[in-house]
Amino acid sequence: MKIGLLGLGTIGSGIYEHLLKRDDIEVVRILELKRHPGLEHLETSDYSEILNNPEIDTVIELIGGMEPAHTFTVQALKAGKNVVTANKLMLSHHMEELLTLAREMGVHYRYDASVGGSIPFLYNLMRYRSADDLQSLSGIVNGTTNLILDVMQREGRSFDDVLAEAQKLGYAEANPAADVDGIDAQCKLAIASAVAYQKYVRPEDIDTEGIRHIQAADIIEFRKMNRVCRLLAQSGRNPDGSISATVEPTLVSADSTEAAVHMNMNTISVVGEYCGLHTFQGQGAGKDPTAFAVELGLRDILDGISPRLNPIPQGYATVDNRQLRRSYYLRTKAHPGVPVEKLGETDFGTAYRTEPMSASDMHALAKALREKDEGLFFAGIRD
Ligand code: HSE
Repeated sequence: MKIGLLGLGTIGSGIYEHLLKRDDIEVVRILELKRHPGLEHLETSDYSEILNNPEIDTVIELIGGMEPAHTFTVQALKAGKNVVTANKLMLSHHMEELLTLAREMGVHYRYDASVGGSIPFLYNLMRYRSADDLQSLSGIVNGTTNLILDVMQREGRSFDDVLAEAQKLGYAEANPAADVDGIDAQCKLAIASAVAYQKYVRPEDIDTEGIRHIQAADIIEFRKMNRVCRLLAQSGRNPDGSISATVEPTLVSADSTEAAVHMNMNTISVVGEYCGLHTFQGQGAGKDPTAFAVELGLRDILDGISPRLNPIPQGYATVDNRQLRRSYYLRTKAHPGVPVEKLGETDFGTAYRTEPMSASDMHALAKALREKDEGLFFAGIRD
């Protein structure tokens, strides 16, 4: 297998180093703006040198972001090359186009590395859904925010300090707002849900709340409740054929599986009608774990396994979060305007527990209250 590698950042340099140890997969060209000592003979800033090179059968897209990643992927697929990616942002917004194009061109488009880093989660979802009706997904799919929440909870360190550490370790996105505001998790949930339910999911249909506004004072309140905060991505089938899909800070009990997921680790559970509950756990971000997932995609293509794993969703899911009801922790300086029980006072406002309400109502309420209190924080309270 001859590779054109797009991008030599954290993951790109990881897969390059891994593939140096292999004799059946060779990187023959690297698209990079910068020059790296010793790699100048492979590096180019002209993508046509990869696109028009008949020796290259597979492109690994690790430049991230929307453009030019999208255009380069379309061009590679149209040129009859397989594509392997970790780009959840771009894939989640162009999934139908790219999967359909790959199918039409008879090439492979593998995106295992886009959700869950090293965890063979998407791979198994792709397999499971052929033998089961998958009912729900739930998990921690963003390592950066888990690191922040976990270290704030256990060590009392500040939000900014831990975020800087995640950036240094190569976990955070180029723009860490994507992590902190839940956008990265939103994209991953859209991709995983499309695979699980075989209907594409528009990322913007997922009610999404990140952890930007959490304060140490909130964590003190969670401790009193014997709870731990995790950023959970969840989706499930509704009885009427729609699906629910949310990304929310969620208060889980201190002895739950998720509370025991530390640092940048990810965990994802799937519930199937036949298989029951399966939980996956492992490194969800970082150079070597993600490069490992990229290589698994390459190996499946080499081994001819890929076509069986590539069913194409049909149509788009209707996302309806009105049927998803729970109580919420809400800390705000504004008047909540819904039935609540007061939990305590903090320097950043009063902490409340709401009566059970739908996820769509809570997200709408938070949006309205932010007109008066930008810094409010809320989190679902899991039963
Ligand atoms: N920024 C992402 C995370 C990288 O922290 O999980 C892996 O997708």
